[in-house]
Amino acid sequence: MALQTTFLPSTLTVHKEAKLGIKDSSFVGISLAGHAKADFVAPLRSKKLCMPVVIKAQSTAVAAPGLTNSSLDGKKVLRKGVVVVTGASSGLGLAAAKALAETGKWHVIMACRDFLKTEKAAKSAGIPKENYSIMHLDLASLDSVRQFVENFRRSGMALDVLVCNAAIYRPTAKTPTYTADGIEMSVGVNHLGHFLLARLMLEDLKKSDYPSKRLIIVGSITGNDNTLAGNIPPKAGLGDLRGLAAGLNSHHSSMIDGGSFDGAKAYKDSKICNMLTMQEFHRRFHEETGITFASLYPGCIATTGLFREHIPLFRALFPPFQKYITKGFVSEAESGKRLAQVVSDPSLTKSGVYWSWNKDSASFENQLSQEASDAEKARKLWEVSEKLVGLA
Ligand SMILES: NC(=O)c1ccc[n+]([C@@H]2O[C@H](COP(=O)([O-])OP(=O)(O)OC[C@H]3O[C@@H](n4cnc5c(N)ncnc54)[C@H](OP(=O)(O)O)[C@@H]3O)[C@@H](O)[C@H]2O)c1
Repeated sequence: MALQTTFLPSTLTVHKEAKLGIKDSSFVGISLAGHAKADFVAPLRSKKLCMPVVIKAQSTAVAAPGLTNSSLDGKKVLRKGVVVVTGASSGLGLAAAKALAETGKWHVIMACRDFLKTEKAAKSAGIPKENYSIMHLDLASLDSVRQFVENFRRSGMALDVLVCNAAIYRPTAKTPTYTADGIEMSVGVNHLGHFLLARLMLEDLKKSDYPSKRLIIVGSITGNDNTLAGNIPPKAGLGDLRGLAAGLNSHHSSMIDGGSFDGAKAYKDSKICNMLTMQEFHRRFHEETGITFASLYPGCIATTGLFREHIPLFRALFPPFQKYITKGFVSEAESGKRLAQVVSDPSLTKSGVYWSWNKDSASFENQLSQEASDAEKARKLWEVSEKLVGLA
């Protein structure tokens, strides 16, 4: 059920004196040099917070979240970027939230289904208190997604980057479970919840005056059968989308391709959907909006909660196997830096790209498999998904 109050009270404050230290003086292509003495102005959109607040800038200051880039006296104003990260309570999302918040240049909205878990995680990761807020979002409920968007808008903050990161993986499940809307859980959470969120928040991204606005949907190698990992059975495959079109709402029709339920395949299918959706966003909206749409494979982060439903033996052996045999292992901290790069690195502004990293942790544009880059399938997926989330 969607919650009405979404912010932890202590987190929704606009600081009158911004003394947030950043050591370097540039971010997302804007240099603070020459603006060191500028005042920052905070004309927030929401009524509760809409008193314009002049923030005295120190030479090392950035403004509080949600401020615009134009000041009352016409001076160019710099501000923190606002990034929403879904599933920031653990693993990749938490590590990325930490990496971004620690720069002092970002205010991270941790969009999560469990407040207490997220607050505890943020505290124990040492994420600076002033650089994050927690808002309730349960991707297994379309109402909750809509409520989240409404609450975010009510906060008055701008949206500069949206990261669709949350996911569940149910490799040992023998039967499907369902979202609040009666849709198979893996596709419901990983794809459809994010699809609705991204579609709604596109309007917020369009309004942002941030120099580089981005919408990122985390993908995976497992949905790409042009890789070794993508060929481990059960292989991903959406077929002609007949199961999805039928609503993924019964034991007889719980897989996108209409086949019988397979929890591991349902996850992999949802990841193809994520990568197809990113490309369809790019085709439909990049030129018109200038928003960068991107996906990524952060590497095999074998220690995260994603594998929580796997058998204990797998959980014990998977990390050393990835570390010492495949050498594909990536730590949570490293994966967080990679996602943070896709959020904020001025050199990663190309849209429609699926980023990966080589052994030296250098980013490169990766190739998607034939199915994960099938434009016709992406169009059809978009249309069927629109119907399922009530947008068409
Ligand atoms: N781990 C890997 O090797 C790997 C490799 C490639 C790609 N990825 C991708 O990386 C992303 C993050 O995965 P991870 O490895 O970091 O796993 P993780 O630690 O399990 O994190 C998943 C996050 O999703 C959240 N979540 C699950 N169901 C949700 C729901 N209904 N509503 C809102 N949030 C929900 C979880 O929240 P709770 O804490 O409340 O459960 C958690 O914060 C996923 O998109 C995954 O596909 C991971």
